[in-house]
Amino acid sequence: MSFEEMWAALRPVGRDAETGGYHRFAWTPAEVECRSWFADEARRRDLEIETDPNGNLFAWWFPPGNGRGDAVVTGSHLDSVPGGGAFDGPLGIVSAFAAIDLLRERGVRPSRPIGVAAFAEEEGARFGVACLGSRLLTGAIAPYRARGLRDRDGRTLADVLTGHGLDPERIGPDEGLLSRIGCYVELHVEQGRALDAPVGVASAIVPHGRWRFDLAGEGNHAGTTRLKDRRDPMLPFARLVLAAREAAERNGTLTTVGRVEVAPNGVNAVPSAVTAWLDGRGPADDAVRRTVAEVHEAALRAAREHGVGVELAEESYTEVVDFDVPLRDRLAAVLGGVPVLPTGAGHDAGILASRVPTAMLFVRNPTGVSHAPAEHADAEDCLAGVEALTTVLKELAGG
Ligand code: GLV
Ligand code: MN
Ligand code: MN
Repeated sequence: MSFEEMWAALRPVGRDAETGGYHRFAWTPAEVECRSWFADEARRRDLEIETDPNGNLFAWWFPPGNGRGDAVVTGSHLDSVPGGGAFDGPLGIVSAFAAIDLLRERGVRPSRPIGVAAFAEEEGARFGVACLGSRLLTGAIAPYRARGLRDRDGRTLADVLTGHGLDPERIGPDEGLLSRIGCYVELHVEQGRALDAPVGVASAIVPHGRWRFDLAGEGNHAGTTRLKDRRDPMLPFARLVLAAREAAERNGTLTTVGRVEVAPNGVNAVPSAVTAWLDGRGPADDAVRRTVAEVHEAALRAAREHGVGVELAEESYTEVVDFDVPLRDRLAAVLGGVPVLPTGAGHDAGILASRVPTAMLFVRNPTGVSHAPAEHADAEDCLAGVEALTTVLKELAGG
């Protein structure tokens, strides 16, 4: 299957026909269909399929006569945000299979194994914690905490994994697997307007995290409850959203309140509870931390005024990631001096980087839009990405 054929096969999976957005949440039928697509592509190429205890998928090319360690791993993820674009995640995996085809066509016999990875729940769209599969693999999240994470229907990760034949008691760091990974290179669509060339190399990922605010008030009748008698959590929530924007402006950071749940969510009821998720990112840890503290302070003040309770929980946080400098420079050089740029988007590569030399390749995104249907990469740039990944794999795996 060529790049174009693989792309066409994945295109309809989990796609909303009206909006063109993708809904591929970890372990839901659409994502499971993507996983079987992955297994089919691996089998088609005689790659050895491995599902690790954390639900991450690997397809291995073990060249005969060489060991199974010191592998060059590439890949990305198959899950999406709600209504996401087609490229965020799958581009890295389709490109990886296509690059293996090119290496073989060109008679390259690697001296190191090459692995294609599909990390589970990268977006955290179902269980709330971004890069869950790679965090578990590297020990960046405690297994007991992960087991208890719940999706929007209240199902725990432990239950969902059990339903897919995985043992929740076995999730967690996998030193054996990690010790076989010599380096990781993730190809990804660029997610802003920062890349003005077909392909670039990542320098860093800025600090980023997610925080949940639970605002608890008192549910009551919209027509009979006097304003002064209300304990309406929607009011401090409104203040929180504005405070997030103001704190971002003050601190030179980015804040987004992109998800909110209101109970009971009735038009004629004063809400009893509001839960809001804050995504915060910025150039430095202290700026992000200060931003969140200021939003918290504003929410507490507004909540006190309205007799509402506030609880704040940090769901995930990733400090600044500086990718391995020798590896990054080697890739930029072998690709002929392509641009080297940081990103504000999170990736499994950012998690793997704490344990193995890691790098990223970016493919130009002419719309500058991501996590939305307009996310795009031109076919020509995608093929340039495959070519670049092929060059990189040959450089690193030898042959
Ligand atoms: C993942 O794409 C993120 O940056 O949230
Ligand atoms: Mn994403
Ligand atoms: Mn991604």
